[in-house]
Amino acid sequence: MYQFIAGLPKVELHLHIEGSLEPELMFELAQRNNIDIPFANPDEVRAAYDFSNLQSFLDIYYQGAQVLVTERDFYDLTWAYMLRCKADNVLHAELFFDPQTHTARGIGFDTVMKGLTKALAKAEAELGISSQLILCFLRHLDELSAFDTLQQAQLWKEKIVAVGLDSSEVGHPPEKFARVFAAAREQGYLTVAHAGEEGPSSNIIDALDILQVSRIDHGVRCVDDPQLVARLVEQKVHLTICPLSNTKLKVFDSMDQHNIVDLLRQGVSVGINADDPAYFGGYMNDNFNAVASAHTLSHKELANFTYNAIDASFCSVGRKYELHQQLQAYVDNQ
Ligand code: ADE
Ligand code: ZN
Repeated sequence: MYQFIAGLPKVELHLHIEGSLEPELMFELAQRNNIDIPFANPDEVRAAYDFSNLQSFLDIYYQGAQVLVTERDFYDLTWAYMLRCKADNVLHAELFFDPQTHTARGIGFDTVMKGLTKALAKAEAELGISSQLILCFLRHLDELSAFDTLQQAQLWKEKIVAVGLDSSEVGHPPEKFARVFAAAREQGYLTVAHAGEEGPSSNIIDALDILQVSRIDHGVRCVDDPQLVARLVEQKVHLTICPLSNTKLKVFDSMDQHNIVDLLRQGVSVGINADDPAYFGGYMNDNFNAVASAHTLSHKELANFTYNAIDASFCSVGRKYELHQQLQAYVDNQ
């Protein structure tokens, strides 16, 4: 099983690039930029990663991101993630980034974009991994700040495929961003949103109806509303599920309680993703392995996670075809 997973072609659609900051790189960047962090070594950082819910994680995650200052920092961060993609046979990745976390500290939008896009171009050329960028608005901040961020993205529009919504879900429902998402859609961006991670299933409905999202990030609480599950199946709405994240943030008590396999078998388009791998203990293969050790899954079902992700991805029709072919060849050779 683990061998099948290791060789399985994968597509990652839910990855926060700031969440791939490994403690070792955090230390290196803190030194490089003369920034104080309240830890003596990377092991101490890891020991602090014991979360009780989403907010307890977000507090540490935003603190960690403070070491990212220069274009080179964003480049190093992104390149390190793309090397992990290569190791896990991820052929296509769609990366979230949180510009407000950086611009609020005086880091230029351009600085972030130059670092990210240079690493992604190198990954495409040298590793053969295609990618897209998704700009996320922080939902704990106000609408005006989101509009300001959308404005700053103007010059980089060709490099950003979609806008998304992340950070603290409870108390910050989708409708808070109805107008900025409408403006983004008018400018030609696709939309996605974190919904039904910790918040109620009604957030999933509002993300679909008000924000008109193409897919839902997490969405695991859809099961509280059977009518919604039927709608997801019927309208082929994809959920980018993050199993290790959900257990680390206590959305589920344990992996055998996770509903991803039930959802797959009910016909919902679900995929497996890492979310914030440096904080939750694993990249793509680790997430697949964790699900496969807690649930009995056939090879066909494991491959279906990738088929679903290919269909839900924002890459070109031609690239989707290539990805399908590679996956099919792998499955046929088993
Ligand atoms: N930002 C980074 N990871 C997140 C998550 N799992 N949920 C909401 N916001 C996030
Ligand atoms: Zn996320």
